Amino acid sequence: MDMQQTTDFVPVIAIDGPSASGKGTVAQRVAEHLGFHYLDSGALYRLVAVAAAQRQVALDQEPALAEIARDLPGAFVGDAILLNGEDVSAEVRSEATGGNASKVAAFPLVREALLQRQRDFRQGPGLVADGRDMGAVVFPDASLKVFLTASAEVRAQRRCKQLIEKGLMAKGQGDIFTQILQDIVERDQRDASRPVAPLKCYPDARMVDTTDLSIDQAVNQIIQFYSC
Ligand code: DC
Repeated sequence: MDMQQTTDFVPVIAIDGPSASGKGTVAQRVAEHLGFHYLDSGALYRLVAVAAAQRQVALDQEPALAEIARDLPGAFVGDAILLNGEDVSAEVRSEATGGNASKVAAFPLVREALLQRQRDFRQGPGLVADGRDMGAVVFPDASLKVFLTASAEVRAQRRCKQLIEKGLMAKGQGDIFTQILQDIVERDQRDASRPVAPLKCYPDARMVDTTDLSIDQAVNQIIQFYSC
């Protein structure tokens, strides 16, 4: 019996951390390196927020939001995120949707409705999952739990750089940097202060602070933790 369980065990690397910490990029790179599957759990909360807007459900309607989460007609196809077969990737990844997702994610019924869906991503040969509660709630038996973070200022700078690269922001727009920094701090506070699955570095997680690390260094650090 024990033998069977050992054979069936699918390893999970849980990478949690605040918004714009580089979790997505780092987690994807670790998954590619190991040939593992990848779960972007934040995208599920973002999809709930987008679906709620489409159906004109207000972001304080917990039961209705949980119903949307339960039957979410979302799918990941390559880099694209689909809702009802429609490509909603740009909307899902926008700053506004990130803020709305953080509100939706504070409701226990919504979290519960997405739980099994996230666990279904656990398939051989392994999974790298990123989010806020991957190690604490969704995959408590993860082989490795990482808390990936960076200072709020560095995260805001990285987000601005991304927006400039995508042509969504011009260089020298200092007021936008201030706004992005403020959004990041607000989102951290909301994610960290909610009673269910709050964002924090749990005692069984390894902290990786990327304030002074490149993406490659963060990826290598996690792969090294995993192989030890
Ligand atoms: O990782 P992200 O920025 O895409 O996540 C968007 C929001 O979703 C984030 O502010 C908090 C919430 N979230 C969560 O509560 N639990 C997760 N596992 C993933 C995201």
